[in-house]
Amino acid sequence: MSDPIDHNKVVVLTGAGISAESGLPTFRDMGGLWEQYEITEVASPQAWEANPQLVLDFYNERRTKAVAALPNAAHQALAELESRYEVVVITQNVDDLHERGGSTNVIHVHGELVKARSTADASLLYEMGGKEIQLGDLCEQGAQLRPHIVWFGEAIHNFDVAARHVSSAGKVLVVGTSLSVYPAAGLLTKAQASAEKLIVSPDLESEPVAFHWIKGTAVEHVPQIVNRWLEE
Ligand code: APR
Repeated sequence: MSDPIDHNKVVVLTGAGISAESGLPTFRDMGGLWEQYEITEVASPQAWEANPQLVLDFYNERRTKAVAALPNAAHQALAELESRYEVVVITQNVDDLHERGGSTNVIHVHGELVKARSTADASLLYEMGGKEIQLGDLCEQGAQLRPHIVWFGEAIHNFDVAARHVSSAGKVLVVGTSLSVYPAAGLLTKAQASAEKLIVSPDLESEPVAFHWIKGTAVEHVPQIVNRWLEE
Protein backbone atom coordinates (compact mmCIF):
# COMPACT_ATOMS: atom_id res chain seq x y z
CA MET A 1 0.00 0.00 0.00
CA SER A 2 1.75 3.20 -1.10
CA ASP A 3 1.54 6.44 0.87
CA PRO A 4 -1.05 9.02 -0.17
CA ILE A 5 0.49 11.32 -2.79
CA ASP A 6 1.25 14.88 -1.66
CA HIS A 7 1.04 17.22 -4.67
CA ASN A 8 2.88 19.88 -2.71
CA LYS A 9 5.90 17.65 -2.14
CA VAL A 10 8.85 17.62 -4.55
CA VAL A 11 11.56 15.02 -4.06
CA VAL A 12 14.87 15.55 -5.86
CA LEU A 13 17.35 12.68 -6.14
CA THR A 14 20.81 13.98 -7.01
CA GLY A 15 24.20 12.55 -7.85
CA ALA A 16 27.68 13.79 -8.68
CA GLY A 17 26.48 15.38 -11.94
CA ILE A 18 24.71 18.22 -10.13
CA SER A 19 28.06 19.29 -8.63
CA ALA A 20 30.00 18.88 -11.90
CA GLU A 21 29.34 22.51 -12.93
CA SER A 22 30.69 23.56 -9.53
CA GLY A 23 33.97 21.98 -10.58
CA LEU A 24 33.77 18.74 -8.60
CA PRO A 25 34.57 15.54 -10.53
CA THR A 26 31.94 12.84 -11.02
CA PHE A 27 32.83 9.19 -10.59
CA ARG A 28 32.11 7.46 -13.89
CA ASP A 29 32.45 10.16 -16.50
CA MET A 30 35.62 10.47 -18.55
CA GLY A 31 38.36 11.51 -16.14
CA GLY A 32 36.13 10.76 -13.18
CA LEU A 33 37.32 9.72 -9.74
CA TRP A 34 37.04 6.03 -10.42
CA GLU A 35 39.42 6.45 -13.38
CA GLN A 36 41.99 8.01 -11.05
CA TYR A 37 41.62 5.78 -7.99
CA GLU A 38 40.85 2.14 -7.29
CA ILE A 39 37.56 2.01 -5.34
CA THR A 40 38.92 -0.96 -3.36
CA GLU A 41 41.96 1.05 -2.29
CA VAL A 42 40.20 4.18 -1.00
CA ALA A 43 36.47 3.54 -0.46
CA SER A 44 35.92 0.28 1.41
CA PRO A 45 36.33 -1.06 4.97
CA GLN A 46 39.10 -3.34 3.63
CA ALA A 47 40.95 -0.28 2.29
CA TRP A 48 40.67 1.36 5.71
CA GLU A 49 42.10 -1.74 7.41
CA ALA A 50 44.92 -2.07 4.86
CA ASN A 51 46.00 1.57 4.49
CA PRO A 52 44.07 4.12 6.59
CA GLN A 53 46.49 6.92 5.66
CA LEU A 54 45.73 6.49 1.92
CA VAL A 55 41.99 6.56 2.68
CA LEU A 56 42.38 9.68 4.83
CA ASP A 57 44.47 11.36 2.11
CA PHE A 58 41.79 10.58 -0.51
CA TYR A 59 38.96 12.07 1.53
CA ASN A 60 41.08 15.00 2.83
CA GLU A 61 41.78 15.96 -0.81
CA ARG A 62 38.09 15.64 -1.75
CA ARG A 63 37.01 17.62 1.35
CA THR A 64 39.42 20.47 0.52
CA LYS A 65 38.04 20.66 -3.04
CA ALA A 66 34.41 20.37 -1.92
CA VAL A 67 34.58 23.20 0.62
CA ALA A 68 36.32 25.42 -1.97
CA ALA A 69 33.58 24.76 -4.54
CA LEU A 70 30.52 27.02 -4.85
CA PRO A 71 26.88 26.01 -5.29
CA ASN A 72 25.76 26.44 -8.91
CA ALA A 73 22.47 27.66 -10.39
CA ALA A 74 20.96 24.18 -10.12
CA HIS A 75 21.58 23.95 -6.36
CA GLN A 76 20.24 27.49 -5.93
CA ALA A 77 17.13 26.83 -8.01
CA LEU A 78 16.23 23.82 -5.84
CA ALA A 79 16.45 26.09 -2.79
CA GLU A 80 14.15 28.65 -4.46
CA LEU A 81 11.60 25.86 -5.05
CA GLU A 82 11.06 25.78 -1.26
CA SER A 83 9.15 29.08 -1.53
CA ARG A 84 6.20 27.12 -2.96
CA TYR A 85 6.72 23.40 -2.26
CA GLU A 86 7.92 21.05 0.45
CA VAL A 87 11.25 20.09 -1.17
CA VAL A 88 13.20 17.05 0.01
CA VAL A 89 16.64 16.65 -1.55
CA ILE A 90 17.91 13.09 -1.36
CA THR A 91 21.53 13.15 -2.41
CA GLN A 92 24.19 10.53 -3.09
CA ASN A 93 26.70 13.39 -2.95
CA VAL A 94 28.93 13.88 0.04
CA ASP A 95 29.61 17.57 -0.64
CA ASP A 96 27.53 20.24 1.17
CA LEU A 97 26.66 22.28 -1.92
CA HIS A 98 22.91 21.69 -1.51
CA GLU A 99 23.04 23.09 2.03
CA ARG A 100 25.24 26.02 0.99
CA GLY A 101 22.94 26.60 -1.98
CA GLY A 102 20.09 27.15 0.50
CA SER A 103 18.24 23.81 0.60
CA THR A 104 16.95 23.17 4.13
CA ASN A 105 15.88 19.52 3.90
CA VAL A 106 18.78 17.46 2.57
CA ILE A 107 19.06 13.73 3.17
CA HIS A 108 22.54 12.29 2.53
CA VAL A 109 22.44 8.56 1.75
CA HIS A 110 26.19 8.14 1.14
CA GLY A 111 27.49 10.30 4.01
CA GLU A 112 29.02 13.77 4.31
CA LEU A 113 32.61 14.94 3.73
CA VAL A 114 32.32 17.74 6.30
CA LYS A 115 31.72 15.26 9.12
CA ALA A 116 33.97 12.71 10.84
CA ARG A 117 32.80 9.81 12.97
CA SER A 118 34.18 7.57 15.67
CA THR A 119 35.41 4.10 14.66
CA ALA A 120 34.19 2.88 18.05
CA ASP A 121 30.66 4.35 18.01
CA ALA A 122 29.08 5.38 14.68
CA SER A 123 26.65 7.68 16.50
CA LEU A 124 29.56 9.93 17.54
CA LEU A 125 29.80 12.51 14.73
CA TYR A 126 32.07 15.56 14.58
CA GLU A 127 31.72 18.62 12.34
CA MET A 128 35.01 19.01 10.46
CA GLY A 129 34.18 21.74 7.97
CA GLY A 130 37.26 21.83 5.69
CA LYS A 131 39.66 20.42 8.31
CA GLU A 132 41.68 17.28 7.55
CA ILE A 133 41.27 14.03 9.46
CA GLN A 134 44.65 12.61 10.48
CA LEU A 135 45.78 9.37 12.10
CA GLY A 136 45.77 10.11 15.83
CA ASP A 137 42.62 12.29 15.66
CA LEU A 138 40.48 10.57 18.31
CA CYS A 139 36.84 10.65 19.38
CA GLU A 140 35.80 11.29 23.01
CA GLN A 141 36.12 7.53 23.65
CA GLY A 142 39.73 7.56 22.44
CA ALA A 143 39.06 5.78 19.12
CA GLN A 144 40.37 6.91 15.72
CA LEU A 145 38.14 9.21 13.68
CA ARG A 146 37.16 8.17 10.11
CA PRO A 147 35.35 9.94 7.28
CA HIS A 148 31.55 9.95 7.74
CA ILE A 149 31.21 8.31 4.31
CA VAL A 150 29.35 5.14 3.31
CA TRP A 151 32.02 2.87 1.82
CA PHE A 152 31.29 0.07 -0.62
CA GLY A 153 29.96 -2.87 1.34
CA GLU A 154 28.48 -0.66 4.09
CA ALA A 155 24.79 0.02 4.63
CA ILE A 156 23.59 3.34 3.19
CA HIS A 157 22.12 5.99 5.49
CA ASN A 158 18.47 7.05 5.73
CA PHE A 159 17.17 4.69 3.03
CA ASP A 160 13.77 4.04 4.61
CA VAL A 161 13.01 7.69 5.28
CA ALA A 162 14.17 8.55 1.75
CA ALA A 163 11.95 5.83 0.26
CA ARG A 164 8.91 7.17 2.15
CA HIS A 165 9.50 10.65 0.75
CA VAL A 166 9.78 9.36 -2.82
CA SER A 167 6.63 7.27 -2.52
CA SER A 168 4.56 10.25 -1.33
CA ALA A 169 5.93 12.89 -3.74
CA GLY A 170 3.75 14.55 -6.36
CA LYS A 171 6.89 15.42 -8.35
CA VAL A 172 10.15 13.43 -8.54
CA LEU A 173 13.17 15.06 -10.18
CA VAL A 174 16.39 13.08 -10.74
CA VAL A 175 19.54 15.09 -11.53
CA GLY A 176 23.11 14.04 -12.30
CA THR A 177 23.25 10.38 -11.41
CA SER A 178 24.17 7.36 -13.52
CA LEU A 179 21.82 5.27 -11.38
CA SER A 180 24.54 2.63 -11.19
CA VAL A 181 24.77 2.19 -7.42
CA TYR A 182 22.08 0.38 -5.44
CA PRO A 183 20.13 0.62 -3.24
CA ALA A 184 20.18 4.42 -3.81
CA ALA A 185 19.29 4.00 -7.49
CA GLY A 186 16.35 1.82 -6.49
CA LEU A 187 14.67 4.76 -4.79
CA LEU A 188 13.16 5.75 -8.15
CA THR A 189 10.99 2.65 -8.19
CA LYS A 190 9.15 4.07 -5.15
CA ALA A 191 7.73 6.94 -7.21
CA GLN A 192 4.00 6.71 -7.83
CA ALA A 193 2.59 6.28 -11.32
CA SER A 194 0.62 9.53 -11.03
CA ALA A 195 3.64 11.58 -9.89
CA GLU A 196 5.39 13.84 -12.41
CA LYS A 197 8.78 12.18 -13.02
CA LEU A 198 11.72 13.89 -14.73
CA ILE A 199 15.40 13.01 -15.07
CA VAL A 200 18.07 15.54 -16.12
CA SER A 201 21.35 14.21 -17.50
CA PRO A 202 23.55 14.83 -20.58
CA ASP A 203 23.68 11.13 -21.24
CA LEU A 204 21.82 8.16 -19.90
CA GLU A 205 22.59 4.44 -20.20
CA SER A 206 18.91 3.64 -20.00
CA GLU A 207 15.89 5.78 -19.19
CA PRO A 208 14.25 4.74 -15.91
CA VAL A 209 10.74 3.48 -16.51
CA ALA A 210 8.11 6.25 -16.58
CA PHE A 211 10.69 9.04 -16.20
CA HIS A 212 10.83 11.73 -18.87
CA TRP A 213 14.50 12.33 -19.82
CA ILE A 214 15.55 15.96 -20.28
CA LYS A 215 18.90 15.70 -22.05
CA GLY A 216 21.42 18.27 -20.89
CA THR A 217 23.19 19.58 -17.83
CA ALA A 218 21.86 20.51 -14.39
CA VAL A 219 22.58 24.22 -14.86
CA GLU A 220 20.93 24.21 -18.31
CA HIS A 221 17.68 22.59 -17.16
CA VAL A 222 17.05 22.64 -13.39
CA PRO A 223 16.40 26.42 -13.16
CA GLN A 224 13.92 26.14 -16.08
CA ILE A 225 12.10 23.22 -14.48
CA VAL A 226 11.94 25.10 -11.15
CA ASN A 227 10.58 28.24 -12.82
CA ARG A 228 7.87 26.19 -14.58
CA TRP A 229 6.88 24.52 -11.31
CA LEU A 230 6.81 27.84 -9.46
CA GLU A 231 4.39 29.22 -12.08
CA GLU A 232 2.04 26.22 -12.07
N1 APR B 1 24.68 17.95 -15.21
C1 APR B 1 23.90 16.86 -14.99
N2 APR B 1 24.37 15.59 -15.03
C2 APR B 1 25.68 15.44 -15.31
C3 APR B 1 26.55 16.52 -15.55
C4 APR B 1 26.00 17.82 -15.48
N3 APR B 1 26.77 18.91 -15.69
N4 APR B 1 27.81 16.02 -15.81
C5 APR B 1 27.69 14.68 -15.72
N5 APR B 1 26.42 14.33 -15.44
C6 APR B 1 25.86 12.99 -15.25
C7 APR B 1 26.59 11.90 -15.98
O1 APR B 1 26.06 11.72 -17.28
C8 APR B 1 26.28 10.69 -15.11
O2 APR B 1 25.04 10.11 -15.50
O3 APR B 1 25.99 12.70 -13.88
C9 APR B 1 26.11 11.29 -13.72
C10 APR B 1 27.27 11.00 -12.80
O4 APR B 1 27.28 9.61 -12.58
P1 APR B 1 28.35 9.02 -11.56
O5 APR B 1 29.69 9.60 -11.86
O6 APR B 1 28.17 7.54 -11.57
O7 APR B 1 27.92 9.62 -10.15
P2 APR B 1 26.75 9.09 -9.21
O8 APR B 1 25.60 8.58 -10.00
O9 APR B 1 26.49 10.19 -8.23
O10 APR B 1 27.45 7.86 -8.44
C11 APR B 1 26.67 7.21 -7.47
O11 APR B 1 28.59 5.88 -6.83
O12 APR B 1 30.81 5.72 -6.40
C12 APR B 1 29.58 5.85 -5.82
O13 APR B 1 29.24 6.75 -3.71
C13 APR B 1 29.50 7.10 -5.04
O14 APR B 1 27.55 8.45 -4.66
C14 APR B 1 28.34 7.85 -5.66
C15 APR B 1 27.57 6.74 -6.36
